Amino acid sequence: MATVELKGLGKTIGQTPIVRDVDLAIGDGEMLVLVGPSGCGKTTLLRLVSGLEEAGAGEIWIGGRRVDRLPPARRDVAMVFQSYALYPHMTVRENLAFGLTLRKLPRAEIDSRVEEAAALLELTALLSRRPRQLSGGQRQRVAMGRAIVRRPAVFLFDEPLSNLDAALRAQVRVQLQQLHRRLGTTSIYVTHDQVEAMTLADRIAVLRAGELQQVGRPLDLYRQPANRFVAGFLGSPAMNVLPATARGQGGELRAVGDGFALPLPAGAVAPGRELLLGVRPHDLSLVLEGGALSGLVEAVEILGWEAFVQLRVGGNAVLVRA
Ligand SMILES: Nc1ncnc2c1ncn2[C@@H]1O[C@H](COP(=O)(O)OP(=O)(O)O)[C@@H](O)[C@H]1O
Ligand SMILES: [Mg+2]
Repeated sequence: MATVELKGLGKTIGQTPIVRDVDLAIGDGEMLVLVGPSGCGKTTLLRLVSGLEEAGAGEIWIGGRRVDRLPPARRDVAMVFQSYALYPHMTVRENLAFGLTLRKLPRAEIDSRVEEAAALLELTALLSRRPRQLSGGQRQRVAMGRAIVRRPAVFLFDEPLSNLDAALRAQVRVQLQQLHRRLGTTSIYVTHDQVEAMTLADRIAVLRAGELQQVGRPLDLYRQPANRFVAGFLGSPAMNVLPATARGQGGELRAVGDGFALPLPAGAVAPGRELLLGVRPHDLSLVLEGGALSGLVEAVEILGWEAFVQLRVGGNAVLVRA
């Protein structure tokens, strides 16, 4: 096991900065989940750590050792990709053993590592099958098994569940969580799925256009997003954001916007200040009279276990969970 430290890490391709000045320290045994929209540089960041891509700036440290000048094989990391990249002509056992055979480990050692990983991933009964005889979820477990048998200091996961359908994704997500608890291997897990991020992460790092926006525990990010981007990225449906101005009225402070005037804590901001009010649909409730906000119902979506009501408040659309 090992810590991972990224210091001022950067990568520019052509004229375009893809990863910008990333500082990040990941604890021994920690599961850090890196999230962000498509194209924001998540895969590139993992490839920098693994050594598949050369850093343009900064340093990478793994287990107290500087590795950014070392070739991938000497960094002691194992990457699990979105595409499983299994060898189609090999059995599950051969796929699991392949990397160890290349490294010329003794046969008995290879066998025991393969058996152990297979047991951990519930693949024992499938060891003599070939990839085409496996379901998507089973293939993904073989891909993870190949990383596990190497016993690396760090796992790098690049959207490993994104090719699975929703039901299977939920199932493998839980297995991954249990696996991490058992092995305790330091991991960087990339996803654009906020449910995966919230449920798997010890800490979440949010990336936007190659720049870190915020790093913290899942609920801290959910409750105290550092900026509007993070606020909009975590939580479904997204947070309502209402433009307003702070106004002092007879010793009371209010956020006044189009169609509403909400009380603010005294001294929270200077009167005259422009604000963005962020309110999650789940933190609002509907009342027939005397509410703080009032609006016209424009649409209702009933999901069975909950419903969402779309209100028009002045010029603002406000979603309420009901
Ligand atoms: N080899 C490359 N050459 C040119 N542009 C690239 C290359 N690799 C990635 N990019 C660009 O870098 C950005 C980040 O890509 P990527 O790291 O794959 O994002 P993500 O994994 O978050 O979707 C994208 O705009 C992509 O087009
Ligand atoms: Mg990617």
